[in-house]
Amino acid sequence: MSQTEQRSAIPQHNTEARFEEPTHGPSTSSEWWRRSVIYQIYPRSFRDTTGNGIGDLPGITAELHHIAALGVDAIWLSPFFASPQKDAGYDVSDYRAVDPIFGTLEDFDALIAEANRLGVKILVDLVPNHCSNEHALFVEALASPKGSSAREHFIFRDGRGVDCQLPPNNWQSHFGGPAWTRITEPDGTPGQYYLHLFDSAQPDFNWDNPAVGDEFESVLRFWLDRGAGGFRVDVAHALIKASGLPDWDGRADGADSPGYPFADAPMFGQPAVHEVYRRWRSICEEYEGERVLCAEANVHPIESMADWVRPDEMHQSFNFPFLHTGWDHAALKAIITRSLKAFGAVNAPSTWVLSNHDVPRHATRLGATAPSPRPGDGLGPQDEQPDIVLGLARARAATLFMLGLPGGAYLYQGEELGLGDNTMLPNEHRQDPSYARTNGERLGRDGCRVPLPWDDSSSSLGFSDSAASWLPQPAEWAKLTRQAQETDPDSTLNFYRNALALRSSSQLGLGNLNWLEDTTNGQLLGFENTGVMVALNLGVEPVALPAGEVLLASSSEALSPAGPEGSAVLLNPNAAVWLRRASS
Ligand code: NOJ
Repeated sequence: MSQTEQRSAIPQHNTEARFEEPTHGPSTSSEWWRRSVIYQIYPRSFRDTTGNGIGDLPGITAELHHIAALGVDAIWLSPFFASPQKDAGYDVSDYRAVDPIFGTLEDFDALIAEANRLGVKILVDLVPNHCSNEHALFVEALASPKGSSAREHFIFRDGRGVDCQLPPNNWQSHFGGPAWTRITEPDGTPGQYYLHLFDSAQPDFNWDNPAVGDEFESVLRFWLDRGAGGFRVDVAHALIKASGLPDWDGRADGADSPGYPFADAPMFGQPAVHEVYRRWRSICEEYEGERVLCAEANVHPIESMADWVRPDEMHQSFNFPFLHTGWDHAALKAIITRSLKAFGAVNAPSTWVLSNHDVPRHATRLGATAPSPRPGDGLGPQDEQPDIVLGLARARAATLFMLGLPGGAYLYQGEELGLGDNTMLPNEHRQDPSYARTNGERLGRDGCRVPLPWDDSSSSLGFSDSAASWLPQPAEWAKLTRQAQETDPDSTLNFYRNALALRSSSQLGLGNLNWLEDTTNGQLLGFENTGVMVALNLGVEPVALPAGEVLLASSSEALSPAGPEGSAVLLNPNAAVWLRRASS
């Protein structure tokens, strides 16, 4: 059903919608990041122009007009810097160079020029917590003696116990195994350990050393001078570690556990980290065009996360608690209320996100018919497979609900095509370091990183001119190419276009939220924002909607006429709607 067709009048329903007190004050700001929609491009999986099966910057430049036409404000570009690619580019060996697999600095400049022409900003993914073990500073540190200034760029310590055979503390890597690796000293003897919160190929910088801060300020300026619209800041909570590096019994390995990742952990959320972002904010403000900082600050609770977006720090922080809230009426209402309050308290917008390159896509998560065997991890061929039809219905509904919320929204490439994970990925293709570091106990994140389907021009579905694709695409994606969805008015692609256009024209991003009192026993979760009622049916029965004009429904099956009297339109289970209520 097209957007115009969906604008049908809805008969009066006898239950008057009642609204609770507003949970978010009105915003009069015109600052673009308060209401932005930012689209994440994962370069290696976007579009390959060289035929090697890995996406590249010219591919992004060539196809960027499709993304701009969706109606997004900015692109967050996952790392494209020089890197041995041990963690898909989050192991940077030169922060001022483009990795040859992605192109050249000139290709980046061409991308900025095209983005400027199309009116979208490009946010660069900055990785300041750690670099690659092939970064010149780390190579120098390894070649330099213990106690040298070169070692001071990183966190080197002596081991504990007999012959220093135990690591300096008990911290665990996010990817599994100890967070310390022992080196061989230049003279050939077993030596010190260095800290790596992630893979051993990703040594953590020592942010207590001012030289590290100076280096990153220079890197920031390098990309701002080249036209970057700002930065997504990787692991923005971890730069400073508690002095003395005390043992910590919580888990620092990214697993779903009560101890993770609370702000009391000695490797997260140390107060001095905020000084770093205050300096970065002032650097961004030296530049024209409202350059922004967005924190990947995965700290709990959300009130602590809001510290990253105080007025003189970053502009936005990813709302991970929202992403990790399932198909649950009470939990969704609670986290949205709490987010708006927490971020509102520091005069920052909340952000909303359902998918990214680190978690199973929401079309897969919401289609799960059994609890995940490894929470937070991808599904594999041996696991119970998700219900694809249910997953897509719920994913579209969840997206429509999310895009109705005030604040900033993040989209992950391919969700506008309704893509789920490749849950049948054969293990031999897995590249995520967490797979190898846990001996396959964790499958890792490859399933959500599969190259995009563009058209039927090649056997990689137009991702590459050749058949090559660094991860195999699921067979069902042949029906989900962008080309196949282009002219289908019911396609997920056109649904996203309509939702983004309406969100913008109705100014939902700058609005405020009034919860609709639930009279449906926990089925209908609804709120009003700027005159638009947003409703999501999380239950198993159709729910009557109040009278109004349907602006957009999550699919052509979302609504049903009511019984013989035709007294109301029903919102079906696993569906959402935007409605302009009839004035009484
Ligand atoms: C968060 C990134 O999103 C993830 O992909 C990466 O592995 C870690 N940080 C380490 O940089």
